[in-house]
Amino acid sequence: MIALACDHAALDMKKDIIEMLNEMGLEYKDFGTYEQSSCDYPIYGARAARAVASGECDRGIVICGTGIGMSLVANKVPGIRCVVCSEPYSAQLSRMHNDSNMLAFGARVIGSGTARMITKIWLETPFEGGRHQRRVDMITGVEGGIYPE
Ligand code: RB5
Repeated sequence: MIALACDHAALDMKKDIIEMLNEMGLEYKDFGTYEQSSCDYPIYGARAARAVASGECDRGIVICGTGIGMSLVANKVPGIRCVVCSEPYSAQLSRMHNDSNMLAFGARVIGSGTARMITKIWLETPFEGGRHQRRVDMITGVEGGIYPE
């Protein structure tokens, strides 16, 4: 189950991503916004991030004008590793090395073709584990105040 959220700047791009998830046969839960009217992205980004952190959703995709606001909000939720990507290489490596569980991008930064490419590779790439697991655990340790000692 993929958690989705956007603000007014990214409603059309979210629809595009929903179309793609449908084509891929993946389930999603849309946490809003559902309207073109101006809104506050933290409301929707936080809802999607909490759904991922709680396990209700496996991963999340959040979209705003730049992807930055959404990623900042998502990363405030413990357990979330949200990456802003404007190209597929970083999206792929964020899965392989960082076990990113949320993806953000900017509807005013990239076009729909690039957004689709980024989303597809991010959804399909597994975490490599191994030495990268140790580093991800260290990130979690920083979050919990136990690392560095
Ligand atoms: C909305 O104007 C814009 O600030 C928002 O979509 C996002 O880019 C914030 O980071």
